[in-house]
Amino acid sequence: VAGYRVAVAGATGLVGRAIVRVLEQRDFPVRDLVLLASPRSAGARISFRGEASEVKTLGANSFRGCEIAFFSAGATVSREFAPVAAASGCVVIDNSSAFRMEADVPLVVPEVNADVLPHELGRGIIANPNCSTIQMVVALRPLHRAFGLQRVVVSTYQSVSGTGARGTRALDAELELSERDEQSPYPHRIAFNALPHIDTFDAEGWSGEERKMIGETRKIMRLPALQVLPTAVRVPVRVGHSESVYASFGRPVSVEAARVALRAAPGVVVVDRPQNAEYPLALDAEGRDEVFVGRVRQDPDDPMAILFWVVADNLRKGAATNAVQIAEVVASWHRSSNATAVSSL
Ligand SMILES: NC(=O)c1ccc[n+]([C@@H]2O[C@H](COP(=O)([O-])OP(=O)(O)OC[C@H]3O[C@@H](n4cnc5c(N)ncnc54)[C@H](OP(=O)(O)O)[C@@H]3O)[C@@H](O)[C@H]2O)c1
Repeated sequence: VAGYRVAVAGATGLVGRAIVRVLEQRDFPVRDLVLLASPRSAGARISFRGEASEVKTLGANSFRGCEIAFFSAGATVSREFAPVAAASGCVVIDNSSAFRMEADVPLVVPEVNADVLPHELGRGIIANPNCSTIQMVVALRPLHRAFGLQRVVVSTYQSVSGTGARGTRALDAELELSERDEQSPYPHRIAFNALPHIDTFDAEGWSGEERKMIGETRKIMRLPALQVLPTAVRVPVRVGHSESVYASFGRPVSVEAARVALRAAPGVVVVDRPQNAEYPLALDAEGRDEVFVGRVRQDPDDPMAILFWVVADNLRKGAATNAVQIAEVVASWHRSSNATAVSSL
């Protein structure tokens, strides 16, 4: 039978379930689907193309015969099992932060840098970037090409599903309670609140999420000296991250020229008629694969700077869709070559 044997490690999580849905919706050539999670979920069933498949416990032998493995079970699991899967001949597409900044692991957003594949596929592991970074670079890439990006100041408004199932459970529980949910992954109430705290803080006061946005944006855009100044904030939204971006360039930029560049860009939808109350919204982005951009404004004091608002579904383009798009690049490259790096495909 044509197609690939595909493993999903973390299949019962928010991202894992989204990967299974996206594989189905994009009609990725799956011959067999291997669903993996911790022993807690062994025996659970997840539907794929109308059939319920059983979830198995992830172990060292789980990847035998697989050609592609998606990982979305956290960095600890990826660090232990992604090299095992790669050694057994899989191309690993990893959603965790485990390998993103390693020099010999490509960090890929297909609309921006698909060209790094496959010649940088040394270890057989491809990293999927952080969700906040993915949607920002999809919007920045066409603007950089047109105007020469120099500096980005960004504030994020990130949904609780970005923390996984524990985040959505905490929001749901707190909407019923007038106090913090004891099982919450957040240090304060998330309902009716905004927390400028995502991941742990370093000695300089930057959060892990902010550090990821800085390092990953520079790596994906191949701009190692780019100034990136993020403030990452968790808000009580279920799905969809929003970002307020201030970008300055080496060449003059206008609102109309920016909109033209954005409209022509792959994966971007411009929604920008604020007088009609039309701008990107998290609720509208949910379930969609595109990155939505609006509220484009000129810095009145700087002809080389604009501001805009960018929204995407963090579980889709921020994770699952981007990962499946990477698999599509790998598959199309494989179809057109006999290169040795993925000879088992
Ligand atoms: N949520 C997002 O927007 C987003 C975006 C980009 C990247 N990511 C990354 O994707 C990963 C998963 O995120 P998520 O939001 O889907 O989290 P989640 O909803 O909490 O799901 C976690 C998944 O990992 C599995 N798992 C946990 N420990 C395991 C172990 N020891 N062995 C095997 N499986 C294990 C869980 O299985 P059980 O059901 O058995 O517990 C579950 O399937 C994380 O690395 C996260 O950083 C998330």
